[in-house]
Amino acid sequence: MSYTVGVFIGSLASDSINRKLAKALFKLSPPELKLVEIPIGALPLYNRDFDADFPPAGRAFKDAVAAVDALIFVTPEYNRSIPGVLKNAIDWGSRPYGTNSFAKKPSAVTGTSRGQISTAVAQQHLRSILSFVNSPELAQPEAYIHFTEGMIDDDGNVTVARTEEFLRNWLQEFHIFVVKVLGAQRITL
Ligand code: FNR
Repeated sequence: MSYTVGVFIGSLASDSINRKLAKALFKLSPPELKLVEIPIGALPLYNRDFDADFPPAGRAFKDAVAAVDALIFVTPEYNRSIPGVLKNAIDWGSRPYGTNSFAKKPSAVTGTSRGQISTAVAQQHLRSILSFVNSPELAQPEAYIHFTEGMIDDDGNVTVARTEEFLRNWLQEFHIFVVKVLGAQRITL
C-alpha cells in the first residue's frame, strides 16, 4: 500500500538549502511514500475576516492538505523559530474553526541550516504547533541536518554517504509510523 505525503518547504528563497533537502527526500523516499510539494508561497497573510468567505487560495491549500495521507515539514530556522510564511500556511489550514485540515494527519519535521544546532529550536516550535493542530508527530529519529557546502546539490543528490543513509532511514521510519498511525485510526471501537 502506498501513501501520499504532502511536503511543506518553509523557505521561499530561490537558492534555498531547505529546498535542496526536500529534493533529496523526494529522491530517497521508499516506493510506498509518494511525496508531493504543497506550495505555501502564494497564500495571502491570514486574518480571520477570511473565515466567512474563504478565498480560492485558502480553499486550494486546504484541498491540497486534505488530498494527502501524511505531512513532511522541511523548514529553516528564523530567529530561533519557524519562518512566518510557514506559520501563515499552518494558520490557513487550521481554519475556519472546526475545519482543521491537519487533524490526525501523521507528520514529520526536519530542516537544515549552517548553524551548529541545525534548526533544532525551530523544529521544537513547529512540534508545539503541530501538537495543537492535532497532528501525530514522528518523535524519533529527530532530523537536524547540519548543512555543509556541497552536501546536497541543486538536483537533490546527497554527496555525503552518511547523510544520505540517515535521510533514507528517517524516511523509512516515517513510513512505519504512517502505517501504524493510519492503521490505528481505521480501528472502530
Ligand atoms: C536566519 N538564519 C538562521 N539560522 C539558524 O540556524 N538559526 C536562526 O535562528 C536563524 N535566523 C535567521 C533569521 C533570518 C530572518 C534569516 C534570513 C536567516 C540563517 C538561515 O539558516 C539561512 O539563511 C538558511 O540558508 C535559510 O534556509 P534556506 O532559506 O536557505 O532554506
